Amino acid sequence: MKIGIPRETYPGERRVALVPAVIPSLLKGGFEVFVEAGAGTEAAFPDAEYTARGAQILADRASIFHTADIVVQVLCHGSNDRTGKDDLPLLRPEQVLVGFLRPLGSIETIREIAATGVTSFSVELMPRTTRAQSMDALTSMATIAGYKAVVIAADRLPRLFPMLTTAAGTITPARVLVIGAGVAGLQAIATARRLGAVASAYDLRPASKEQVQSLGGRFVELPVEAQDAQDARGYARPQDDAFYERQRELLGQVVAESDVVITAAVVPGKKSPVLVTEGMVSRMAPGSVIVDLAAERGGNCELTREGELIVVKQGVTIVGWLNLASTVPYHASQMYARNVSAFLLHLVKDGKLRMDQSDEIIRETLLTRSGEVVNARVRDFLSLPSLPA
Ligand SMILES: NC(=O)c1ccc[n+]([C@@H]2O[C@H](COP(=O)([O-])OP(=O)(O)OC[C@H]3O[C@@H](n4cnc5c(N)ncnc54)[C@H](O)[C@@H]3O)[C@@H](O)[C@H]2O)c1
Repeated sequence: MKIGIPRETYPGERRVALVPAVIPSLLKGGFEVFVEAGAGTEAAFPDAEYTARGAQILADRASIFHTADIVVQVLCHGSNDRTGKDDLPLLRPEQVLVGFLRPLGSIETIREIAATGVTSFSVELMPRTTRAQSMDALTSMATIAGYKAVVIAADRLPRLFPMLTTAAGTITPARVLVIGAGVAGLQAIATARRLGAVASAYDLRPASKEQVQSLGGRFVELPVEAQDAQDARGYARPQDDAFYERQRELLGQVVAESDVVITAAVVPGKKSPVLVTEGMVSRMAPGSVIVDLAAERGGNCELTREGELIVVKQGVTIVGWLNLASTVPYHASQMYARNVSAFLLHLVKDGKLRMDQSDEIIRETLLTRSGEVVNARVRDFLSLPSLPA
């Protein structure tokens, strides 16, 4: 089985799908690895390191797609909504595609991927189970985004994060509020604490309270209870408008008292709920910073502009930059490469694809096959009729 690693083409993307360190284990597993020239350069992995570990470098993208049985990317068509479509004519029916495919995004896009005939696996659909933990790329990327959000906030805030007692007086620690304590939010709390801030967090899932507290954060309790807060996978369920309205009312005071607000409250496949309104921002102190990790899906802050950093008239900075994992490309690529190589070693045994539908990891990540969208969860989400077993 030949694995092909094309260079990422999404504008500004700096990650690469495989790093040299994982190649020996793939070779041992019976794979050959082909890498497009320069694919790892932006992530600080030069071509020579790939060849030193046993990969072969091919000069152009078309050769990678032509050679590979399995194409592995970070952002495929779907999650790469800018240039991903250009790869579709390069895919062929007997090929496998692995990467971020945004399976709960647009039905047209997923149908375009299906129409190539390719057997595609979406890393976003990886079950959140102990068995699949080593393959969970969403967790890896969210970890990096949560860390980077705090670093950006610390850089922009006109205050220090830690408490300092100096001859020039005592400096009080920065107050950081995280809204949405999933993987990214929890990493933001941990990072803010390491920098010496006082961190607190709120999430509608009661289960997150203990996780916040175990990281030294204060859990913000709001007198409003979500209906059926989380689904079987642990994801938040969408709530009605009345709930979000009440949340905003109750969060107003906590937001106003924070120097930094990191918002990471998302609901899979849905527009993110607006939890920080213009009115709430206007009550924050000048110089405060909001980093909106939900910017890509509409944002948790009413004023967020997707992809931009803005300073609103009250002097509050709102950061809506996208794809933060790509700004730490070395470690983001390393973590992603470990996740996908664990997945490939699971998927291919003795040089053959294991299309074992009784295997939860394979069944749940398989998105398209033989021209059809075959994933039951995605079909249900997109209101497509279910397929015969
Ligand atoms: N291997 C594992 O067992 C494993 C690995 C990773 C994540 N998980 C679990 O998967 C689940 C999803 O994690 P994720 O980080 O991908 O989540 P996510 O990115 O889908 O959402 C981020 C957070 O936003 C919260 N949120 C949504 N709407 C909100 C609102 N209106 N107000 C406040 N908070 C809101 C969610 O509850 C979630 O905690 C979690 O339960 C997590 O613990 C399990």
